[in-house]
Amino acid sequence: MISEATQAVITHYERRHEFRGDVFGAQPYANYGYWARPDLTLEQASEALTDLVAASAGLGQGDKVLDVGCGYGAGAVKFVKRYDVDAVTGIDVTPVRIASGQDYIAEHSVADRITLQEGDATAMSFGDESFHKVVSVECAFHFDTREAFLKEAARVLVPGGTLALTDIIPRRGVDPSAYLTGETTNQSQVCLDMPANAYDADVYADLLRSTGFEAVRIESLLEWTRIPFADALARVAAASEGERAEQISRMATRIRQLIELGEDYVLVTARRS
Ligand SMILES: C[S@@+](CC[C@H](N)C(=O)[O-])C[C@H]1O[C@@H](n2cnc3c(N)ncnc32)[C@H](O)[C@@H]1O
Repeated sequence: MISEATQAVITHYERRHEFRGDVFGAQPYANYGYWARPDLTLEQASEALTDLVAASAGLGQGDKVLDVGCGYGAGAVKFVKRYDVDAVTGIDVTPVRIASGQDYIAEHSVADRITLQEGDATAMSFGDESFHKVVSVECAFHFDTREAFLKEAARVLVPGGTLALTDIIPRRGVDPSAYLTGETTNQSQVCLDMPANAYDADVYADLLRSTGFEAVRIESLLEWTRIPFADALARVAAASEGERAEQISRMATRIRQLIELGEDYVLVTARRS
């Protein structure tokens, strides 16, 4: 049963699909990217973020991987092709993303090792201890709730299995209610829907430990993710014209506001106890 809040997330991503608002190149990644250098394209940076999560999870031969919030399947194809994992199962709650993802994986010669299916991160259909690795690129702030997802991730991982994800949370010392309200909330398009997920890295780490994880690490990537993404958008806006230029420029401004108000972008890794 999909919650009302999750239904709102689906509606958001269905709208974005209509104008390919999240996808920046031929490979259908849909994330803010990891900007090791400022001169990357949006597509290269999105791919690099996926690589960072894959490397943080230690993906490799023999792994059965669950990609939660797999989007259009670009990550799943990479995990097979570059990291040579045994198999990837991708779940996403937005049907149009799974449908497009099926087409995308069919275009590659790896479809026999990838299964994409509709599914909610907080109530998975998989048996206990089904996967060696659970990854999730830039999705968990949406889940209703993140805690419910962590319990599910712990359940489906084998003991000693790894969880690696990127996520958006408030920085330490920030009162999320200062920006999760009114106009700003409506602009943020992220944490907004799930105030229950708006807690800092210390609370997050405690939650991981209480849901069955150890070796917990939470590291801020703000300087290499949202900040350079906003800069890149501003460059794209400057090179565009008319309404499109204004739209992109407004998006860059919104992201900068949210960073000022206290949003952080983090890489989270943990091992199943
Ligand atoms: C920012 S996109 C990231 C997509 C992909 N990981 C990537 O990097 O290209 C967030 C994704 O999370 C998915 N999502 C949001 N809530 C979800 C939930 N409860 N269960 C599964 N997927 C969810 C959305 O449909 C969307 O595809």
